[in-house]
This record gives sequence, C-alpha cells and structure tokens, in this order.
Amino acid sequence: MAERPYIVGNWKMNGTRAMLSQARSIDRAAQNLMKVEVAIAPPYTLIHPVHREAGQIAVGAQDCHPGAEGPHTGDISAVMVADAGAKFVILGHSERRQDHGETNALVREKCSSAIEAGLRIILCVGESEETRDAGKAENHVTRQLKASLPENLDNAQESLTVAYEPIWAIGTGRTPTVEDIGAMHRAIRATLSDMFGEEQGAAVRILYGGSVNPDNAFELLSADEVGGALVGGASLTAESFLGIVIAAAELNDQPA
Ligand code: 13P
Repeated sequence: MAERPYIVGNWKMNGTRAMLSQARSIDRAAQNLMKVEVAIAPPYTLIHPVHREAGQIAVGAQDCHPGAEGPHTGDISAVMVADAGAKFVILGHSERRQDHGETNALVREKCSSAIEAGLRIILCVGESEETRDAGKAENHVTRQLKASLPENLDNAQESLTVAYEPIWAIGTGRTPTVEDIGAMHRAIRATLSDMFGEEQGAAVRILYGGSVNPDNAFELLSADEVGGALVGGASLTAESFLGIVIAAAELNDQPA
C-alpha cells in the first residue's frame, strides 16, 4: 500500500443536488481520516456544488474535451472543469472508450489538455474478459497505457495516477484474484518506470477499480503495488464509500 492511499469515488451518471448531503458526510469523515486521500468525481453539474461543500476532499471531473474552447456543442473543456473547482479528471474510462468510441490517441490528447489546465489525471486502463481469457491482458493493458499517455509528461509522480479497471469487473460484483491484481499492477509499474524513469515511475500511484466494496476493500487493497481504489457503485452513499476509506486507513496502519 502506498504511503497515503488514494480512494476516489466515480459517481458516473448519478447524482442530483439531493446527493450533496452524501458529499458533505464524506467530507466531514475524511477530515478525521487524514492518512487517506479521498476524492469524488461527480457529474459535471455537481462539480462546483461539491467543491463548495468540500473542506477536505478533492473534486474531479469524469472526462473533458481535448480542446480548451470552441464550437463543440455540449462539450466541456479541462479549463472549464478547473474553473468549476476540479483538481483532477478521470480520462480513458472504459465506459467512455465503449460508449463514445474513444481511442488511445484521443485519450492522450485529453491528458495533455488536462495537464495544461493544471489538472491531475487519473488514466484508466483495463482489458475485456475476452482479452484476459486469451492470456493477453498484460500486453493489452501496458500497450494501452503507453498509447494513452503523453510522452513528455513532466513530473509524472505529481500529475498522474493510473487506474487498472478490468472491464469485466466493473459493476459486475466479480473481481480478479489478489494475485492477478498484483501481477497486473507490477506490469503497469514496470511500464511507468520505462516511460518516466525509475524514480518517477515508482512514485506514480496505481489504483484498482472494479466492484470494490466495503467487504472486499481490505483484501483488494492489500494486493501488490495497489495504492488505492477507484470506486463506482459503492461510492454513491457515504456509508459504503467510507467503509472503503476506513479499510484503506486500517491497512495502512499495519506493519509492512
Ligand atoms: P464499480 O465500482 O461500480 O464496479 O465501478 C468501477 C468503476 O468503473 C470506477 O471507475
């Protein structure tokens, strides 16, 4: 487990202002769990309201357009989400890749634009069940990582977090074994070291995402090279999300 675990809630397309009370409860609890870094990525419409509520947790976006401004009806840029209070943006989520045909090249452009706007990025990578069954998961994920990241990323340890999210584990209640998660995270770590050098590569946090809940969090977070979790469904109530945050705090308290 990383020195300060990072637990991020991805609310996806969930949440109206009625959910602000959940954000408030999460923020209040996070103030007493300072050894864990806690963040929420609500839908665009709630970025500013959550930002205004939050004293402790960081707020982020779930996507951004690669450009800064212009004639792109319905799109939102990195500059805009930063202006609304976002400190980070999730990019390359498999739901964006699937629902919107996002390619690695587009994700790479979005990464550059987000960093230019002063945002940190959480880059998502992950394989389909078919790819895993074919024994090609590590190859697929490490190629996706290289192709989705800008090569000239300065200060990767500050600006980048990678989230490994096997597509078949998202929202399904199924998870890889702790051994499989560890193996994939080691492969991602080796790729990051190749790309950014040993020191930077070692310092980038790698999160696990896919059906993390309060009951399995302790075990999943104990896998090799896991520095936190990207949580979907279980981040929608303060109660279940905080169960995961507490598991991360407990794990971090254990002697190495
Ligand atoms: P679930 O936690 O609902 O499986 O979603 C994971 C995810 O996609 C987070 O980005």
